[in-house]
Amino acid sequence: MAQLKENWLKQGFIDEPIADGIDLKSEIRKMCREKNAVILAHYYTVGEIQDAADFIGDSLALARKAAETDARIIVMCGVHFMAETNKLLSPDKLVLVPDLNAGCSLADSCNANDLRKFKNEHPGYKVVSYVNTTAAVKALTDVVVTSGNAKHVIDQLPVDEKIIFGPDYNLGNYINSITGRQMLLWEGGCHVHERFSVAEIVRLKALHPDAVTMAHLECKGPVLAISDVVGSTAVMLKYCIESEKTEFIVATEAGILHEMQRNCPEKTFYPVPPEVSEGGLGCSCNECEFMKMNTLQKLYNTLKYEWPCVDVDPMIAAEAVKPIQRMLEMS
Ligand code: 13P
Ligand code: SF4
Repeated sequence: MAQLKENWLKQGFIDEPIADGIDLKSEIRKMCREKNAVILAHYYTVGEIQDAADFIGDSLALARKAAETDARIIVMCGVHFMAETNKLLSPDKLVLVPDLNAGCSLADSCNANDLRKFKNEHPGYKVVSYVNTTAAVKALTDVVVTSGNAKHVIDQLPVDEKIIFGPDYNLGNYINSITGRQMLLWEGGCHVHERFSVAEIVRLKALHPDAVTMAHLECKGPVLAISDVVGSTAVMLKYCIESEKTEFIVATEAGILHEMQRNCPEKTFYPVPPEVSEGGLGCSCNECEFMKMNTLQKLYNTLKYEWPCVDVDPMIAAEAVKPIQRMLEMS
């Protein structure tokens, strides 16, 4: 046991092998009932995690769920900022993650000290932050948004409000373009979404001329400009469920295809591969390696040992929760 603990403290996850013959999914569901735990999973996690979860959703839906659950334990299968958001909204609950190493390149593109300095250089500006941020950045923020509600929330701010928007440049740029606002944009981005290119989408459109192209708002401007539907993961999912169309080109992390295909077994989805390489073929790295750190084995061990858990410094938490609550009130 002591060795196991030493290992997981070092590694950020529990690597205990699973005994032969264990049906992981049914054991996980059993532990959830016995321990009064709820599993929340993002659409980008692997299919078997989504299938074992109580609830799957986009960042906004996951935050709402964390705020309203009466479970004793929340297991967040996603990335670290999502677990932090859960802890901020449910401070009395134990928030577990299968792997503490599951970070986010977008959240990492803005650190709190840099943002504090930028704020000081721009007195009188309000800070609107994307939910993909650390709690320390949220503590410097006036209102949080997700890609599911960014326009709706920002539309409620006075038209002459001076705004710093971060860290996702592409989302901020898109909101500026459709609202006519001139928010100051942080130059951060997601390494997965920035890899999608116009060239790959044009190639897929030529192969599938009847397909609807859908892109996540973290994609670059030219990709959004040639897409038919742009939005959060939930917006894309809703669209393909409700549409009469049967073919979809999807420019976001490929994990979402699991839920799209589950809801629409008769429809066809083409994941956009990232950037065309020299040889004319795209590589298959349209996956977020952080989301994929969530495995069924780690989820099982997390529930069994109730570790790793996510905590937020109480001084930071007291400030960081306010802009999230403001978002939930405004959306
Ligand atoms: P959604 O809010 O659309 O789920 O996006 C979260 C995210 O991390 C996208 O990369
Ligand atoms: Fe972060 Fe990008 Fe992964 Fe989303 S896909 S969690 S923005 S690194």
